[in-house]
Amino acid sequence: MITNSVVMLQKARAEHYAVPAFNVNNLEWGKELLRAAEKLQSPVILQVTGGAAQYMGSFRLAYDLLVDLHEAMHITVPVAIHLDHGNYHQALETIGVGFTSVMFDGAKLPLAENLAKTNDLRTVTSQHQISLEAEVGTIGGEEDGLIANGEIAAIPDAVQMAQVGVDMLAVGIGNIHGQYPADWKGLNFAHLQKIDEAIFAATGKRLPLVLHGGSGIDDDQIRRAIELGIAKINVNTEGQLAFHDGIRKYVLADKDLEGKNFDPRIFLTAGSDQLEAMCEDRIRVFGSAGKA
Ligand code: 13P
Repeated sequence: MITNSVVMLQKARAEHYAVPAFNVNNLEWGKELLRAAEKLQSPVILQVTGGAAQYMGSFRLAYDLLVDLHEAMHITVPVAIHLDHGNYHQALETIGVGFTSVMFDGAKLPLAENLAKTNDLRTVTSQHQISLEAEVGTIGGEEDGLIANGEIAAIPDAVQMAQVGVDMLAVGIGNIHGQYPADWKGLNFAHLQKIDEAIFAATGKRLPLVLHGGSGIDDDQIRRAIELGIAKINVNTEGQLAFHDGIRKYVLADKDLEGKNFDPRIFLTAGSDQLEAMCEDRIRVFGSAGKA
């Protein structure tokens, strides 16, 4: 079932697990992410960035690809098709194309502009029953610029954004996109707890919080973050590493030179299998298996 992210994330928040939000890079990704979710009966968010849409052709192509795969593979679990890190224009474009969920990333804008644009989009997404994710910027001062420690969301900004009525909020708690440096200090759980409590005090609601940069964080930290309110975890790099590793091993073992293994439908399978295994592993650790 293709749906928005609202019910799946509220359920995840209430029942203390996280919905995996896997980035889609191409056809193989679409298939393996859906296959893993269906196999483990997990809800799943399939998310597309502007860069991935450009690579594949367009947001419309990405949307059609996922909808058609969903039908052809007889997928029964809840699936959201989500814009990842969109600007204002991309949010409107993907809503027009049929995406069921969008992230407007105004974190680099001045707060007032980020709030105003998110609020405008809230009106549009409400009319179309589309879920909306927002992000707020980082605290300045000492933390700023220390890449190894990741970004830290300003609490008053997070509260104001929650009051706009978004369905999910991306919070900086020391997380980083891509691979974590060896001297990374880990997630800042005290800060996560403070953000969640401040939002609850202001709105009376436990808002589903989103962890970006979900690749390469150890399982204990993931579980603790979920206990403290993370209900959506974004994963991209880990899938890329798994896919690449599968193909690399295959080629280094000269298996691509045997018979007709030069056929991409054959040699890409080495990457796809590892990608699917990674997805299954994340679904289990996030606790979303059997929650469809
Ligand atoms: P990673 O590539 O670090 O997993 O981050 C993905 C992400 O947060 C997409 O928004």
